Amino acid sequence: MTVAPDTPRPHYPIAIVGAGALGLAFAARLVATGRVAVIARNAARAAELARGVQIGGQSRRLDVFAPDTLPTADWAVLLVKTGDTADAARLAGALQPRGLLSLQNGLIEAQLRAACPAVTVGQGVTTEGAYRDAAGIHPSGAGETLLPPGFEDLAALFVRAGFVARVDPDIVRARLAKLLINLAINPLAALFRVPNGALLEPPHRALLDALVREALPVLRANGLELDEAAALARVHGVARATAANRASMLQDVLAGRRTEIDAITGALLPMAEAAGLEVPTHRAVHTLVRTIERGTFDSAGGQG
Ligand SMILES: NC(=O)c1ccc[n+]([C@@H]2O[C@H](COP(=O)([O-])OP(=O)(O)OC[C@H]3O[C@@H](n4cnc5c(N)ncnc54)[C@H](OP(=O)(O)O)[C@@H]3O)[C@@H](O)[C@H]2O)c1
Repeated sequence: MTVAPDTPRPHYPIAIVGAGALGLAFAARLVATGRVAVIARNAARAAELARGVQIGGQSRRLDVFAPDTLPTADWAVLLVKTGDTADAARLAGALQPRGLLSLQNGLIEAQLRAACPAVTVGQGVTTEGAYRDAAGIHPSGAGETLLPPGFEDLAALFVRAGFVARVDPDIVRARLAKLLINLAINPLAALFRVPNGALLEPPHRALLDALVREALPVLRANGLELDEAAALARVHGVARATAANRASMLQDVLAGRRTEIDAITGALLPMAEAAGLEVPTHRAVHTLVRTIERGTFDSAGGQG
């Protein structure tokens, strides 16, 4: 992020910060609306991506930038894993955008605001999906993207690119509804190393339901309007619809990567404390996932 002040910088309508699975899947579709800048973690990754990347089975060349050659952009979209948010948000701020939109999982808006105090920030919600492997990026099916108020022009760009997208005046509720799903499914899938569908069966089902029942009063105290039967039905429905999938937290654990537990379960714990509510099962899974992360990182040579 050492762009010389007198260096002319190219300008883009939109920049994606985080050249991973979802970031590249979004970038590949957004180019239909005009120029898109992709901001990579470092110069080596930018050079690799600039040579071309397979996205959805097609070879794509995108405008990729390293942190020391940043352009400016009207809008920045943050798509890094939550553990990388602070660094990536500072990069996004250096793009001098009108607004910075996060489509990350978990609750991250307060951290964005702290990292980027001079920029309008907002966290949306997306059910778009993608994964990456050695062959490239694999976008998976169509989803819906909800943006916070203030991001109408960016929502219009998304729609022009073919996304199902809109500004949701009740984005807080949408974020909490997605958090409920992630709070219930992700840590259990990671701890028991099972695909999502297995969580509906004994012995995991009792824990899944306990996580939903404990989280719900906390989320309701923060604006989610959902009764217990509807909350359980929603979580069970997602586990059923994604029965064969490995949750992202499971994939992270299996790959020895840091998980997003702190932005997911870690977001619930202070909310529970503030509401004077007990969430012992969430405290337990938070500790267990953190312990696994530490074990992985220690045995891998003390990362993290
Ligand atoms: N994938 C999905 O289906 C999906 C769906 C909904 C929501 N999400 C959420 O979207 C976010 C991104 O997920 P993902 O699956 O796309 O993750 P991912 O494939 O791991 O991509 C994250 C990318 O961010 C890059 N990065 C890390 N630190 C950076 C920095 N300081 N500056 C710039 N780039 C940086 C990484 O670089 P390297 O390549 O060098 O590691 C990586 O390419 C997560 O919060 C996830 O929960 C994902």
